[in-house]
Amino acid sequence: MRLAGKTALITGSSSGIGRATALRFAREGAHVVINGRDEKKIATVVKEVEAVGGRALGIRANVGSFAEVNAMVETALKEFGHLDILVSNAGVFHHESFLNMTEEEWDEVLTVDLKGNFNCCRAVVGPMAAQQWGRIICITAISGLTGYPNMTHIAAAKTGTHGFAKALAREVASSGITVNVIAPGLVDTPILVNMTEAEIAAFTKAIPVGRIGKTEEIAEACVYFASEHAAYTTGQILNLSGGGLI
Ligand SMILES: NC(=O)c1ccc[n+]([C@@H]2O[C@H](COP(=O)([O-])OP(=O)(O)OC[C@H]3O[C@@H](n4cnc5c(N)ncnc54)[C@H](OP(=O)(O)O)[C@@H]3O)[C@@H](O)[C@H]2O)c1
Repeated sequence: MRLAGKTALITGSSSGIGRATALRFAREGAHVVINGRDEKKIATVVKEVEAVGGRALGIRANVGSFAEVNAMVETALKEFGHLDILVSNAGVFHHESFLNMTEEEWDEVLTVDLKGNFNCCRAVVGPMAAQQWGRIICITAISGLTGYPNMTHIAAAKTGTHGFAKALAREVASSGITVNVIAPGLVDTPILVNMTEAEIAAFTKAIPVGRIGKTEEIAEACVYFASEHAAYTTGQILNLSGGGLI
């Protein structure tokens, strides 16, 4: 088990990539904090983790709120005594042409997908530095590397996260903390309900391996970055897109 004895906070783990990562981490021996904004969804994933023999604590918190994130980290530290891994994954999906995009949509995406990383990292870096060990993994998207039409807000938030993660990686390396990014292409999660079948088919056609990604494939990469084996890897962006971006 590659994460035995570790505690991981995975934001947005009540669904999709975060849920798969929580289940995978639990199978690798980590205790996990399950987060989202919907108590029911959180409780379901907590039960799923327990069903595979893991220990999970569900905490409802909006990652866009500095106060709620700090309270979540405090609760996790009280429960487990230490917090070793952060997967900053929570994200919202809006698909909107630039001329129809509202200020509210822009602010929501930037608050969750960019400021959420600041809030979560700001809360965990102190405790990680005190123990001279930590792993931070931010989940972005290839739209943050390439841009994508109708996603100017998401691309801005994801590209911003790339700069944020590289700067933080340099700053905290001497404290035993690594900071890496996984930038997935299209992955099979509930987010896809926001896209038409034709849009998904057009995306898939452009992927050399001929299919969209599975949540477990992103979770596997998270295990690597979270593990002891990745101690010499920091400030990196792993593009996981089936060759969609080469
Ligand atoms: N699926 C893809 O094709 C794809 C591709 C590239 C990148 N990504 C990225 O992967 C990450 C996960 O996406 P997913 O596809 O797994 O989506 P998902 O299934 O919709 O999961 C999103 C998770 O984030 C939570 N969340 C949303 N806003 C939140 C907030 N303000 N505070 C706390 N939790 C919040 C959601 O729970 P609640 O709604 O209950 O709060 C849910 O648990 C996102 O950052 C996304 O941008 C996804």
